[in-house]
This record gives sequence, structure tokens and C-alpha cells, in this order.
Amino acid sequence: MSYSISNAGPEPSAPHRARAVGATAGQWPEKKPMWPDRRLVDLLGIEHPLVLAPMAGLGTVELAASVCAGGGLGSLGCVGLQPELVMKAVDKLRRLTGKPINTNFFCHSVARADRAREANWRDRLAPYCNELGLDPSLAAGQSEILPFDDALCRAVEQVKPEIVSFHFGLPAPALARVKAAGCRVMATATTIAEARWLEARGADVIIAQGCEAGGHRGMFLAVNLEEEAASQPSTLPLVPQIADAVRVPIIAAGGIADGRGIAAAFALGAAGVQIGTAYLFCPEAAISPLYRDALRQARADTTVVTDVFTGRPARALSNRLTRELGPLHGVTPDFPTAMLALAPLRRKAEQQGSREFSPQWAGQAAPLGREMPAEALTRALAEAALTRFRQLAG
Ligand SMILES: Cc1cc2nc3c(=O)[nH]c(=O)nc-3n(C[C@H](O)[C@H](O)[C@H](O)COP(=O)(O)O)c2cc1C
Repeated sequence: MSYSISNAGPEPSAPHRARAVGATAGQWPEKKPMWPDRRLVDLLGIEHPLVLAPMAGLGTVELAASVCAGGGLGSLGCVGLQPELVMKAVDKLRRLTGKPINTNFFCHSVARADRAREANWRDRLAPYCNELGLDPSLAAGQSEILPFDDALCRAVEQVKPEIVSFHFGLPAPALARVKAAGCRVMATATTIAEARWLEARGADVIIAQGCEAGGHRGMFLAVNLEEEAASQPSTLPLVPQIADAVRVPIIAAGGIADGRGIAAAFALGAAGVQIGTAYLFCPEAAISPLYRDALRQARADTTVVTDVFTGRPARALSNRLTRELGPLHGVTPDFPTAMLALAPLRRKAEQQGSREFSPQWAGQAAPLGREMPAEALTRALAEAALTRFRQLAG
């Protein structure tokens, strides 16, 4: 069957006002892209089942808008934003696109205050502080990374993004309010048990995050984070097992950066993919020149899952800190408190042009990244995957 991506029908007008979520057959007046599984595109009202991974602090409104323009789902990583800023970001994005959008939040437990643990962590960092001429006792303050709470939920109820996604579980009891606001709910699972848990509590879509993924492991049922981080499944075995375990559509995440990866995800039973690292290469991503340079040099074996940056396991480019204190340290203060002691060290090192203490989240597919605007990348990824489906079909 011949299909050209340019045959995809025109975009629906102002779908956010028309509540594009749950769009059904007939929304795209002409030929629809031949995705082998259309559950996700139909559920979310998007052209291509390609989701920009929310990337708090790095993914911009412009990046999300550009992915929407390319036919994917643009996501806003709202972690660390106060409710007013979430509303402002959504407003800005609405002005740039009429397509459905996703807002993303964390559902972590609030960190336990543990003076001994925090002091121990500062002691571990002290030699580095001394080396850079910093007073190790200066690191203090409060983290702005709050879990999804009543105030954030009120912001969501007001701006009504078509989709809300959660990392580290689901918010109870706010979930019912998010759903009552008409939002579809997506949530990350890193194991089959987590996928079952999320489906049983009402997630409409499960994001199956393999261990190749850049950024924080979305794990939330683990009793011992560091121990279990080391045994997390990769995307290849995770997606089909979750597909067998739940009925809702699955989005594969982790290590996907080109048409081959997308086609593989569909073959495994996914109805869409979520891509983070590959979008970091786009000019719309807000990453520092230091980060961009490091990404360009990344290899498949230069990332590690580490807890030394935030207190939770996350995949990042390795550096001196991950090598000398990690990668899985196990005695960092709870997430996100561990970041506080590290902040001055990281700032000072970056001022000196060093990335040795900076969290630079990236997944194992980083070397497949291509530097191009996100709209063009989204269309190129879709086209490459659709071409591969046709080739595989013979
Ligand atoms: C720089 C970066 C930041 C991320 N931040 C978030 C976030 O704020 N919220 C979230 O749910 N996932 C976040 N993730 C994880 C992604 O949702 C996704 O699981 C991952 O990017 C997929 O793997 P890939 O990086 O190989 O494409 C982040 C990933 C990266 C690379």
C-alpha cells in the first residue's frame, strides 16, 4: 500500500476547544497515516503516535508546540513550576498550537527530613567543595520540586490540558479530579506490577519505560530504589509483557530515537512511543552549550543509572561524580533533597566550563540524535517508521 505522509489530512481546527481527546474515525478528512495500531492516536486525537517526553526545565513551550505542529503530542514538563507558571505555560502553548497537549507532574512522596543522612551526604561532597573553593556548609534551602498537590490540581482543573501524565505513580485523591476535568491520564510503569497497579487505579494509557531511558526511572513500587534500579527491565522485554498484562494502550519509552525503534515498539505491542533524548538535540530544547556538547559526544555506553544527582535513580551522562560516588550510592538523602547540597558545586563547576558535577539526563540512544527543529524531526520520525512498516510488510 502506498502512503505519503504529506497525504495526512489537514489539521482539525482548534481541537482543544472542540475537545479533540477521544477523537473518532472521521476527524481526519482525508487519508489517515497507516499506523498499525491506532488506539493511541484515536484516543488522544493526534496525527502521529509520537509523544514528546516531558522534560522538566529542559523541554520548552516552543519545543512542545513544534512537536504538535509535526503531528505528535507536545508535552510540558511541569515539575518544579508553581501553579501560576503551569497556567502561564499552558496559555502560551495554546497560543502556539490548537492541538491536544500534555502536562506532566511527579507523584513522589515528600522527602523525610533526615539530618544524619543529609550531613553524611554533605561530608561526601566536602572534598569536591574544598577543591573548588566552596564552603560545604553553605548548601541549604528548600527544593521546589513538589509532588502533584491540591494547588497544582486546581491549575489543571482550570486550564484543562487534554492529557495529564504522571511519573512515580498516580496522585490520590486528586486523580478523580483530573479525570473529572476531562483529561486523559497517562502514567509511567517500569515493571509489569506497576503497569497493573496503574491500570487498576484508572490510568488510560501506560507509558512502559525501559531502563535505556534518559531521566528519572519512573519506578514507584520498589521497596529499595537503589537495589531494584539495577534490575529494571529494558524496553524490549518490558513492552510485550506489559501488553500481555493490561488492556489499555501502551506507549513504549526508552532507547527509541529513529524509525527502526518506533517500528520495533509497535511490533512489541505498543500503540505509541515517548521520546526524550532525541528531542534534546532540537534547537528548541533549553540545554546549555556544555550539555549539548556532551550529548554530541555521547556513546551508547556512556550513560549510567545513578542516584547521586537527586536521590532517585535516573539515567544520565556519566561524569566524575557518578564515577567516584556512584553510580548507585544508596545513602543520598531522599529525592529531591540530595540536589540541594550539590547545587553550589554544580554551579561553580559549570562556571569553570566543567560538567563533572552536573546531571545531564540522557538515554542510551543519544548517539542516534539528529540536530533539527522538532517539527521536522517529528515528521521525519513518523515517515521513517511508516516506511519501515511498509518494508517489513514486503
Ligand atoms: C532530559 C530528560 C528529562 C526528563 N524529564 C522527565 C520529566 O520531567 N517527567 C517525566 O515524566 N519524564 C521525564 N523524562 C523521562 C522521559 O519521560 C522518558 O521516559 C525518556 O526520555 C524515554 O527515553 P529516551 O530518553 O531514551 O527517549 C526525562 C528524560 C530526559 C532525557
